[in-house]
Amino acid sequence: MTTTHFFFFFFLSFFIITTGATDFVRPIDRSLLGLNRKQKVSHFKFYWHDIQSGKNPTSISVVPPPMNKINTTSGFGLVNMIDNPLTLAPELTSKLVGRAQGFYASACQTEVDLLMAMNFAFIDGKYNGSSITILGRNSVFNKVREMPVIGGSGLFRFATGYAELRTHWFDLKTGDATVEYNVYVMHY
Ligand SMILES: *[C@@H]1O[C@H](CO)[C@@H](O)[C@H](O)[C@H]1NC(C)=O
Ligand SMILES: *[C@@H]1O[C@H](CO)[C@@H](O)[C@H](O)[C@H]1NC(C)=O
Repeated sequence: MTTTHFFFFFFLSFFIITTGATDFVRPIDRSLLGLNRKQKVSHFKFYWHDIQSGKNPTSISVVPPPMNKINTTSGFGLVNMIDNPLTLAPELTSKLVGRAQGFYASACQTEVDLLMAMNFAFIDGKYNGSSITILGRNSVFNKVREMPVIGGSGLFRFATGYAELRTHWFDLKTGDATVEYNVYVMHY
């Protein structure tokens, strides 16, 4: 072992002892993850279709409200699994830009307040394959609701932001609804 080697290993062990560095975690350069690029802010606008009726529902109640345990008009306890289409315009026949995949659950005993957990899986243009993750509270009878964007994948890595929701159309009988989403996302 040469003197240089000796000092190198000496320094390395010193480094490991003082920083506690292991194989488990290490700091890396921001530029390796593209974080040296300027952060962008994008505004996405599309329509979310909750289709519960008909032969091809995209929103299915997988857990009914447990009415034997609690009498509620808010549907407290219900869970719907969704694979809802996202379209450019309010019409379901307009261009499909992605799907909202996840679930919502009635989380309030007195009002219709939903806990929503879903991924917007986009298929349009350069966003094909990228997704935005939403987790939030949706008081469905409020005119405007807001839910956080808590992350994303692909072009939305490190994303943060929020979504604003406005009910465009709602059929009280079938439960079908079309909701306008304006999503403001910061990403790289
Ligand atoms: C809910 O209401 C129904 C009908 O009024 C009643 O039969 C039932 O016992 C109630 N359940 C509870 C848990 O209070
Ligand atoms: C999106 O990507 C998938 C998989 O790479 C591909 O099969 C599909 O045709 C693409 N869709 C659009 C609309 O470009």
